[in-house]
Amino acid sequence: MLVNASEAVKLASTLLKQGKLVAIPTETVYGLAADTTQPEAIRQVFIAKGRPSNHPLIVHLADLSQIWDWGKQLSPGIIKDIECLAQQFWPGPLTIIIKKADWVPDIITGQQDTVAIRIPNHPLTLALLRTLPNGLVAPSANCFGRISPTTPAHVHKELGNKVAYILDGGPCTIGLESTIVNLSGEQPVILRPGMISHEQISAVLNKPVLFINKNTDQNSSPIRAPGVLDSHYAPKTAFYRISDNDIKTAELINELEMILPESKIALIGHPERQNRIEHRNKKNAITYRALSTHPDEFGQKFYSTLHELDEMEFDTIFCHLDEKIITQDIRWLSILDRLQKATQHNITLEQIKLIMG
Ligand code: TXA
Ligand code: MG
Repeated sequence: MLVNASEAVKLASTLLKQGKLVAIPTETVYGLAADTTQPEAIRQVFIAKGRPSNHPLIVHLADLSQIWDWGKQLSPGIIKDIECLAQQFWPGPLTIIIKKADWVPDIITGQQDTVAIRIPNHPLTLALLRTLPNGLVAPSANCFGRISPTTPAHVHKELGNKVAYILDGGPCTIGLESTIVNLSGEQPVILRPGMISHEQISAVLNKPVLFINKNTDQNSSPIRAPGVLDSHYAPKTAFYRISDNDIKTAELINELEMILPESKIALIGHPERQNRIEHRNKKNAITYRALSTHPDEFGQKFYSTLHELDEMEFDTIFCHLDEKIITQDIRWLSILDRLQKATQHNITLEQIKLIMG
């Protein structure tokens, strides 16, 4: 048992320098870290996750001054853009993609000519990164295609036997992966939405920022960003978003209990009457998890709620969000993006009756 955080950081650092894998806390999700100078350790990251080798990794650094070695053809304009974004958002949940320097190994970049960089905002991981001048690669510490981990327990469940150590930094404060902005092209492009919105980035850069959405033809894109895959961040349990807008939660629960009397069902929604609606007296009671109407709080709890419900082996998990709430704040876009990838598809009560009832 380690007595304090600095000892834990020291141990993590020693293990990483020995070429071992260590799970690290960040403000977004836990990462599966390897030293960037150790190709064999990086190879183990891909093996541990079951991740295809052409999916590039994010390089995590402690300080902005370290980024310049990793890039090339950085014009004064790009340097200024990076500095502006860094000043505003680093350390924090933003990943910046730049043209990579020639020495940067293909195993990190998936043979692409760009590299993704981020300075994460977690005191333990920042302390760790200060001991590793070449930084760490760190994809989310989950098996490929599964829900990202936001607690050490989530990492332990999925990759516990594949990591030498889990650096315990408590639950992640943001809970969704970083926003990824590509600065390597003509115009900044958001490749993955996150809690830093494209509007915030556009305001800081003082120029328009493109936002690749689901409808863009991703198959023709050589860039393997996470949004490229249809199913990602997915629980094992069948998971649907209910698209009926006008129904109240209590009414929806009653309907579902009527349509699916034999099924073990969970519903994720917003709080309406109380934190958890439990119908203990009913045989087919639905398990209800009410998440906040505030996107920051909802985002922080979303993956951990999915992890929890997935463990409980329901037949189906449903999610029902209030259209009036989710259209009020642009940060819901990143939650909706993850929800869209985690769910099989949207479904109406009418379809549930027809298909499952
Ligand atoms: O919040 C985060 O970004 C977390 C924490 C641990 O930092 N990391 C994370 O890593 O989400 P990962 O590997 O699960 O997702 C990063 C995504 C990859 O799926 C990859 O497709 C994309 O970033 N990516 C990395 N390098 C890229 C590049 N050069 N061009 C395009 N996409 C890139
Ligand atoms: Mg991931």
